[in-house]
Amino acid sequence: MAGVPYDQMSGYIWYNGEFIAWADAKVHVLTHGLHYASSVFEGERAYAGQIFKLQEHTERLFYSAETLGMKMPYTVEEINQACIDTLEKQGLTDAYIRPVVWRGSEMMGVSAQSNRINVAIAVWEWPSYFAPEERLKGIRLDRAQYRRPDPATIPCFAKAAGLYMICTLSKHAAEANGYADALMLDYRGHIAEATGANVFFIKEGVIHTPTPDCFLNGITRQTAVDLAKARGIEVVERTIMPEEMADFSECFLTGTAAEVTPVSEIGEFKFTPGEICKSLMEDYDKAVRAHV
Ligand SMILES: Cc1ncc(COP(=O)(O)O)c(C=O)c1O
Repeated sequence: MAGVPYDQMSGYIWYNGEFIAWADAKVHVLTHGLHYASSVFEGERAYAGQIFKLQEHTERLFYSAETLGMKMPYTVEEINQACIDTLEKQGLTDAYIRPVVWRGSEMMGVSAQSNRINVAIAVWEWPSYFAPEERLKGIRLDRAQYRRPDPATIPCFAKAAGLYMICTLSKHAAEANGYADALMLDYRGHIAEATGANVFFIKEGVIHTPTPDCFLNGITRQTAVDLAKARGIEVVERTIMPEEMADFSECFLTGTAAEVTPVSEIGEFKFTPGEICKSLMEDYDKAVRAHV
């Protein structure tokens, strides 16, 4: 479906409990979620007919909604089933699943105590970013202008639309400079993550990754840590300063969309994707298809 605008793709969208035609899944321009970012979402992938870590994603969706004071009008089980049903309704087995929750239009203003909490689920085809051999070359990252905010300033563990404003700005700036993505520091100047994926580094056979104390502890991140440990690779979660990047030999990103993606460059720092990147990419591919 490449090139077709997202509002013009075909099929059905699960919208507040029922399937409606893709083109009809609209919101009014006076929607609280649009003006005040009262919106949370998930990004999931299905492989060979099964949604990877569905329960974890749905639980995070509920956590995010609750964090923004939005009471979900469904149960976790109902949303799990709705995701499965939408995948099936779209006739897809390998796809991206996007549940979204937002405050509606009943009140317009900062306060929106009685607005309806809406839930929709869309499913579309979204192949892996790169073929494995292409991916092993690694992507190039710029250094982002914006930093992940202090947890005292925003609910930073929610997967909430408002947190993505600085991600879009940072990714646009990186792309304008010819990079694929950008590495964000946090409010203290520690390495945090990319604009939509977590980051890992490797030095002398040991994996180092920032402690997720002000950004999403990604579901893929947690899977990658488990896979590395299962291979007997030591994983250290700690504060990582940007200047340390000079000492790392490999680097990779993890995320539902990015899966395991090696990195060849971050600003002036260079990395050579090697054995650890390769084996984790393979292990991840096996894990997501373990049911086949
Ligand atoms: C900002 C950000 N960090 C990290 C991640 C990785 O999270 P996950 O592995 O749960 O997809 C994502 C993707 O959802 C993200 O948007």
